[in-house]
Amino acid sequence: MRTDIIKKVEDYMKTELMKLAGYQDHTPRMAEYRIEHSFRVAHIAVEIARAEGFDEEKAYVAGLLHDIGYAVDFRTKEEYREHGRVGAGIARRFLKELGCYRDEEIEEMCYAIAIHVDEKADFPGEKTPFTLSIGEADNIDRFDAYRLYEGLHFADYMNLPLDEQRAFVEKRLAGLGRLLEEPFATNTSASMWKEKIHYQIAFYERLKNQIEKSF
Ligand SMILES: [Fe+2]
Ligand SMILES: [Fe+2]
Repeated sequence: MRTDIIKKVEDYMKTELMKLAGYQDHTPRMAEYRIEHSFRVAHIAVEIARAEGFDEEKAYVAGLLHDIGYAVDFRTKEEYREHGRVGAGIARRFLKELGCYRDEEIEEMCYAIAIHVDEKADFPGEKTPFTLSIGEADNIDRFDAYRLYEGLHFADYMNLPLDEQRAFVEKRLAGLGRLLEEPFATNTSASMWKEKIHYQIAFYERLKNQIEKSF
């Protein structure tokens, strides 16, 4: 990977996503989270690219920019739903200005960004293992260790009575079981995904086991 180009993309992503800190219903920490998540998705995308023989630099760049649409001050759920397609437009302008990629390379990265939310783009492109891998890297990050903490935190797990803790854990386990069936575009992303889901299942199984022994 070309370090000078990577540095420019990282700086651009950080500057754009820090804008979130000033938006309604956002905090500086939420902006930082979005930046940290973008780095993680980029690293996962590279891991998939390396194993599958895709271009690692393009995977890293598309991963870094996959949520760049969040730089827009969205207000409604419907607007957020558009962040992939809106982000592709923002990324296209930036990558053209950067002047390091051919038009077809830019289009491929932007298509990956556009489809990462719901697999729909508003411009022509091809769903390939590479373009699909960015949304898959995003999902893989969203189901890693942090999600365990986040899930318990949002449910206010510590303050729930034991029967509600048990119901929460059982609901999580049922949901995770269904997620194991998700289709993936490459063997690498499928096995990374399965590893995360199995890890979460193992955690909740142990929690369930503790609950069963708590009365
Ligand atoms: Fe996203
Ligand atoms: Fe994301």
